Amino acid sequence: MTVSIDWENLGFEYRQLPFRYISVYKDGAWDDGKLSEDAILHLSEASPALHYGQQAFEGLKAYRTKDGSVQLFRPDENAKRLQRTADRMLMPQVPTEKFVEACKAVVKANEEFVPPYGTGGTLYLRPLLIGVGDIIGVKPAEEYIFTIFAMPVGNYFKGGLAPTNFLIQGDFDRAAPHGTGAAKVGGNYAASLLPGKVAKSQGFSDVIYLDPATHTKIEEVGSANFFGITKDNEFITPLSLSILPSITKYSLLYLAEHRLGLKPVEGDVYITELDKFVEAGACGTAAVISPIGGVQYQDKLHIFYSETEVGPITRRLYDELTGIQFGDIEAPEGWIVKVD
Ligand code: PLP
Ligand code: COI
Repeated sequence: MTVSIDWENLGFEYRQLPFRYISVYKDGAWDDGKLSEDAILHLSEASPALHYGQQAFEGLKAYRTKDGSVQLFRPDENAKRLQRTADRMLMPQVPTEKFVEACKAVVKANEEFVPPYGTGGTLYLRPLLIGVGDIIGVKPAEEYIFTIFAMPVGNYFKGGLAPTNFLIQGDFDRAAPHGTGAAKVGGNYAASLLPGKVAKSQGFSDVIYLDPATHTKIEEVGSANFFGITKDNEFITPLSLSILPSITKYSLLYLAEHRLGLKPVEGDVYITELDKFVEAGACGTAAVISPIGGVQYQDKLHIFYSETEVGPITRRLYDELTGIQFGDIEAPEGWIVKVD
């Protein structure tokens, strides 16, 4: 089958592909899992995932390289993060090998939907782990479904590498200091829907949350981590218990140091000290690197580099990261997993 898709203008939308992976956990063990053509999940109306949010998800991408092959970027890190989230939510871990093999199987089965090299598109994979079964008290499920579905995607934020503005939100928190902010669970995103709607209705790409304890420090974007570049060539990202440990962010901390010669720093980013940044961005699997033109906080719009142009260091980081992901630049050991 040859698919006809406008690869250059994909955006970030659900598209039902022919195959997804599905595995069931029952009686204390995972089954072998299989590819399925059924895009509908069948589960009990009493499933804890539906009532009490006992669920977790992940996001990673498959990339088409110049020679036509397909590769994954650090899928073992997504597997490990899902295991940490599973521990926090009292769910069974999906072993790393099972996770990575399942990702490969889904990509292979839907290979014609991996966008061509050079279009900027990728195949986004959405692993999902949910507690199911007939349970109505607030307690963990005894049965679980682990599934991975996929869809071709383009930019998450409409600007792509063009800067967009974000709203610093002081009235709503997405997570509590010792809550589930560091776990990739749906509840964090449910909490972000209302503030996200407010921000988007005012023309902003998304919300930047402040630390929930003091509301004085930048935490992260609703769908990505935050980074800033200082005049002194520091690459700074917030360090906090309540933000999602972004695999892209940790990759950038490494690349900033080892490939760009910047000083990598995880630390506090006070809203009163935004002047020290000459560039800023949001980073994540979906967001890739999305330059932040300006941030609105209360009645002031603070511009970092420019509202219309990406800064030079952000562009170099973007080129290095995406060059590795699409196979044009040599990757640090273990970062790339070939699908074929
Ligand atoms: N922060 C949040 C809230 C996210 O949803 C994501 C996306 O996964 C990220 C950060 C970025 O994480 P990663 O780079 O692992 O995709
Ligand atoms: C990702 O980048 O994979 C995410 O999960 C962000 C999501 C909110 C689209």
